Amino acid sequence: AVHGDLAGRRVVVSAGGTREPLDPVRFLGNRSSGKQGIAIAEAARARGAQVTLVAANLEVAEPAGCDIRRVSTALELQAAVTEASRGADVVVMAAAVADYRPATVSEAKIKKDQSDDGLTLELVRNPDILAGLGHGPHDGTLLVGFAAETEPDDERILELGRAKREAKRADLLVVNRVGWTEGFAADENSAVVIGVDGEIVTRLHGSKVSVADGILDVVVSKLN
Ligand code: PMT
Repeated sequence: AVHGDLAGRRVVVSAGGTREPLDPVRFLGNRSSGKQGIAIAEAARARGAQVTLVAANLEVAEPAGCDIRRVSTALELQAAVTEASRGADVVVMAAAVADYRPATVSEAKIKKDQSDDGLTLELVRNPDILAGLGHGPHDGTLLVGFAAETEPDDERILELGRAKREAKRADLLVVNRVGWTEGFAADENSAVVIGVDGEIVTRLHGSKVSVADGILDVVVSKLN
């Protein structure tokens, strides 16, 4: 990390996990704490950037010195990221976004049906926010995505990451293995950063803070 190497840059980071309401008291969510995204926002701030953090249901304290936009659902996150990313130098999508949401949100708490012993939920697709940015006009904005994969095999994870980078047209994709104890909510992370030709740019492991700085080292090299 070089002090001030993001000075004058505008960086947008999404962090945390979206929640899709089922009724006034329930939601479908995921275990993202926001730690990795916050670490990136804080590191970018420390390196001189003006940072907008789009924060979805953080389980840890908000960072100081960032412009924070609080959201909950994928659709809210999409609106906030789309707005903030206009004219930004860098967008980092570290948030875990629900791919589906309940087709309808019940006005009243969903009741147990005594005549049945199961319940089927109907879900509809959420927009892919990163792919939307990647396929839309984004001149001068470096798009950094993540891929959260559960496969045990490292080569398979890379393959999935390469396909994801291509589908979403991200400039960089940070591929990390996730699971019951890995990735989500942990203090440490292991990641491979992939570039536009599917090449491995760097491998990172350690605290989420050090992984954040490693990602920004690559970002800075791509901006210059
Ligand atoms: O928050 P922590 O507890 O610190 O955990 C960090 C993390 C594991 C959540 C983080 O490192 C991570 O991997 N974030 C991305 C999680 C995710 O949603 O991955 P994905 O493979 O499902 O999505 C791929 C990319 O597309 C991501 O950049 C995601 O933000 C984006 N996406 C996904 C779905 C969607 N509808 N819209 C999107 O923009």
